[in-house]
Amino acid sequence: MPMPLIAGNWKMNGSLSLVETFGQALADADLPSRLEVALMVPFPYLESASRALAGTRAVLGAQTLSDQPAGAFTGEVSGEMLREVGATLVLVGHSERRTLFGEDDSAVLARVRRALEVGLTPVLCLGETLEERDDGRGETVVIGQLEAVLDALEAEQRHRLVIAYEPVWAIGTGRTATPEQAQAIHAALRRRLAAYDDGLAEKTQLLYGGSMKADNAAELLAQPDIDGGLVGGASLKIDDFLAICQSAG
Ligand code: 13P
Repeated sequence: MPMPLIAGNWKMNGSLSLVETFGQALADADLPSRLEVALMVPFPYLESASRALAGTRAVLGAQTLSDQPAGAFTGEVSGEMLREVGATLVLVGHSERRTLFGEDDSAVLARVRRALEVGLTPVLCLGETLEERDDGRGETVVIGQLEAVLDALEAEQRHRLVIAYEPVWAIGTGRTATPEQAQAIHAALRRRLAAYDDGLAEKTQLLYGGSMKADNAAELLAQPDIDGGLVGGASLKIDDFLAICQSAG
């Protein structure tokens, strides 16, 4: 069984004082021993968060990165820069990046490659829209997004990813996938990983994201193929976030 991972994605939310609050609370928290915790904060807070989380079990992540190593790309942030300020993980292909910022599968692949090149762990996000689910294409879409990246990687590189299934219709809507719906997609992802290699299926952390809250986390995390959560809104409230962490233990 992969190690459970609870990752908070603050999106474009939070403040320096919230960073401090989380640092202190995570330092004091009595977290389950078999659990990894990560916090994905906006770029300007990364360095403070790196210091605030230093005495805690949580590791630091960013929410995206450029597909370029350096150069005249105004407004972009490179993987090297993220490493330099202490990030070890980075979200890639979040549905908000795909839909609001036009990142298609090839853009996602380019960012996964950059992350791997600089030693960041890409958290590859996958998910179908409501229309795709209603058309009966949910699993096909999600597996297609997975293959668009994994087919292009070396076997060794595939072992360095975390995968997050985030149904678009469940993100920020308060409408969570049922544990059965989430488990069905996670099981399909695990089977597809096993077709690349058995070791990959056994070790890859498969996170669920989409309106995961303190009161529904336990039943989602109890599913055999759900290894953790990628938490948006509920990761902005320390009590809720810690409660979700406790449910994963
Ligand atoms: P919510 O938990 O707010 O639905 O967001 C999920 C998400 O997009 C995490 O990356």
